[in-house]
Amino acid sequence: MDKEAGKRLAAEEAAKHVTTDMTLGLGTGSTARYFVDIMGERVKQGWTLRGIPTSEETRRQAQSLGIEIIEPDETTIIDVAIDGTDEADPSFNLIKGGGAALLREKIVAKAARKFIVIADKSKRVVALGAFPLPIEISPFSWALTVSAIRAALTANGFTAPRLSLRATDGTPVKTDGGNLIIDAELGRIDAPIELERALAAIPGVLESGLFCGMTDMIIYGDTDGVSVVK
Ligand code: 5RP
Repeated sequence: MDKEAGKRLAAEEAAKHVTTDMTLGLGTGSTARYFVDIMGERVKQGWTLRGIPTSEETRRQAQSLGIEIIEPDETTIIDVAIDGTDEADPSFNLIKGGGAALLREKIVAKAARKFIVIADKSKRVVALGAFPLPIEISPFSWALTVSAIRAALTANGFTAPRLSLRATDGTPVKTDGGNLIIDAELGRIDAPIELERALAAIPGVLESGLFCGMTDMIIYGDTDGVSVVK
């Protein structure tokens, strides 16, 4: 499968849900990037679009394409948010955060009237968990938070969770908001809703990459077409 073709086709299909004068939640990652490029083309054609970017990377891309940028607190309405995913199960539960933007992505997705996920079909899974679960945490007392995460995971049936602080060349990755990311290798997640809730209850955890119950539509792209699940 040509993954890039799949991402591009999914983005093109999602663009059909956008009309001029909309306020859009703009996701982060290589798939969302295709979508933002298409929105840039619409603006060149004379459309008015406002974008709320979920990362500084997306902000730079959208700005360079002439898309008007607004902050989430400048509006109460986000017509549609479009974003990629790392995994999606048949019940529309997602693992996101591979690009370390999960906190902003979740805030925007939850606030949007409609949340559309775009992905190449390799992201479609029977059960979540092959992809390590990203968890965004406050840098304050982060080691205590990691201990609490480990305890919560054990209580939720994960006997030997492997947790690692995301780092590049030995330096911890900081999110756009200045937070840290813990990647949790869990294996199959049978109860994602309960796990999302358990992790959200830990002081110091800002969000997990589990996105449960907020997706309206998933568009999977393949080399020769798309399949839309809603
Ligand atoms: C960023 C994300 C991305 O949407 C996710 O990692 C998918 O990225 P890509 O489209 O590059 O595969 O959650 O935090």
